[in-house]
Amino acid sequence: MEQTKLTFDNKQIIATIGQTIAQIIKGEQPCGGHGKCGKCKVVARGSLSAPSEDELRLLSADELSRGVRLACSARVLGECEISTIRNERDSVVLTDADLPQISLCPDFERLGVALDIGTTTLAARLYSSDGELLSSVGELNPQSSFGADVISRIEASLASHEEELASLILSAIDNLIFELCSAAGRMADEIGSIVLTGNTAMLYFLTKSSPLALSRAPFVADKLFGETLGARELGLNSLAPDTKVYLPPCISAFVGADTVCALLATKLCDSDAASMLVDIGTNGEMALFDGTRLYVCSTAAGPAFEGVGISSGMRGETGAIDKVTILNGALHSHTVGGAKARGICGSGIVDAAACMLELELMDETGFFEDGDVTLAEGVTLTQNDIRALQLAKSAIYSGLCTLAKKCGAELSNISGLKIAGGFGKYLNIHSATRIGLLPREVLGRTETVGNAALAGASMLLLDVTLRKEAEDIAKRAEVVGLASDPVFSELYMSSMLF
Ligand code: FES
Repeated sequence: MEQTKLTFDNKQIIATIGQTIAQIIKGEQPCGGHGKCGKCKVVARGSLSAPSEDELRLLSADELSRGVRLACSARVLGECEISTIRNERDSVVLTDADLPQISLCPDFERLGVALDIGTTTLAARLYSSDGELLSSVGELNPQSSFGADVISRIEASLASHEEELASLILSAIDNLIFELCSAAGRMADEIGSIVLTGNTAMLYFLTKSSPLALSRAPFVADKLFGETLGARELGLNSLAPDTKVYLPPCISAFVGADTVCALLATKLCDSDAASMLVDIGTNGEMALFDGTRLYVCSTAAGPAFEGVGISSGMRGETGAIDKVTILNGALHSHTVGGAKARGICGSGIVDAAACMLELELMDETGFFEDGDVTLAEGVTLTQNDIRALQLAKSAIYSGLCTLAKKCGAELSNISGLKIAGGFGKYLNIHSATRIGLLPREVLGRTETVGNAALAGASMLLLDVTLRKEAEDIAKRAEVVGLASDPVFSELYMSSMLF
């Protein structure tokens, strides 16, 4: 295959002629590279294929004249220069993770790493053996090039991309380890142990396990992890070959080790009164402890809360509208970093919908009569955006209500709802209850807990005796299946309304 030189973000690289830019730069492809989302824009000049139909449809004349291309469509035909439009380093990846008091009992001498592999982001922490946090870093999950959600990636893995999915995540982990060590002025060969948590599918991809069992009924995982491997065995090249890699246990096909870690960190099962935990992301994972028994479930919310599938959607980076309020009877937008608005992220969409209801710009069915609603110059919310929000919010709300119902608990008797994850951190609880994303009954009893999965992974790193507790949590959890549950289906339809 003929090769060519090109420059990508000022670095010289060699690429195969005929590949798409996305294949070369391993860029994010939220719609799986199907030319639908228009989110894989780069600036590219030089010897490239002519703009495709998708590019002509999704890019403005101004963008095309500035050399903006869709990375999933444009093919490299010879020497060219490519640059990313926004710096992914701006990305707000939540590495805040409060650890409860623990005893120290690490299985490493000098350094250890805790890492959470989320569907959208990766977050990692470097610790010394005396429990000191030395550095924290976050990055986007590069597997997004195979689609924003878990299902697209399972399909990709089954369509013989298993090796690629594994190598993308392994090199991203190697990079994060390099960054953690650089930030702390330490060497990677000082790392003796690492804990890698994530949802069940992410651990399948990491270990090159076929996710066939996750793709078809009865959706029973054939691996639940809870095991220690060697770094070489796993394919992590940045670490000494015998570095221990612990993968915490998963509960089921769709309730993963990240939930087990979050349960450990939030001490949900230590409370006397009934309490709940929800991690709102592309998948909403939820747990209810009723004082005796632990129930868990997961529901596919879709990526709307991550800003994906929304016409002006983006993650909570600089320039994203993250809050919307009413000022002098009109919508008022706030952006991350106070920068010029470039798009809207999940918390902004929830706020915007709540304010639109308040101002009667939208009715309870989500219909707005006067066309798209402008939030800032170039940033609008469309009817389709609101439909995507309705599907996502209904999935979370119906999941929480069904879980409570199945466990015989009254939401009004729940002593607290802990909200984990990056989106939850920035969510306005009043807006969330106003639009019916969270039940009104829990208003005043919610608490955001940051990246609880990363906190739990850190605990398992610093005190190996807690691994037994994680295994007990995974074993005792009772999975409530929502997919075929008539209560959930009925609620899901009726809760689309605002
Ligand atoms: S349009 Fe290129 S990834 Fe969606």
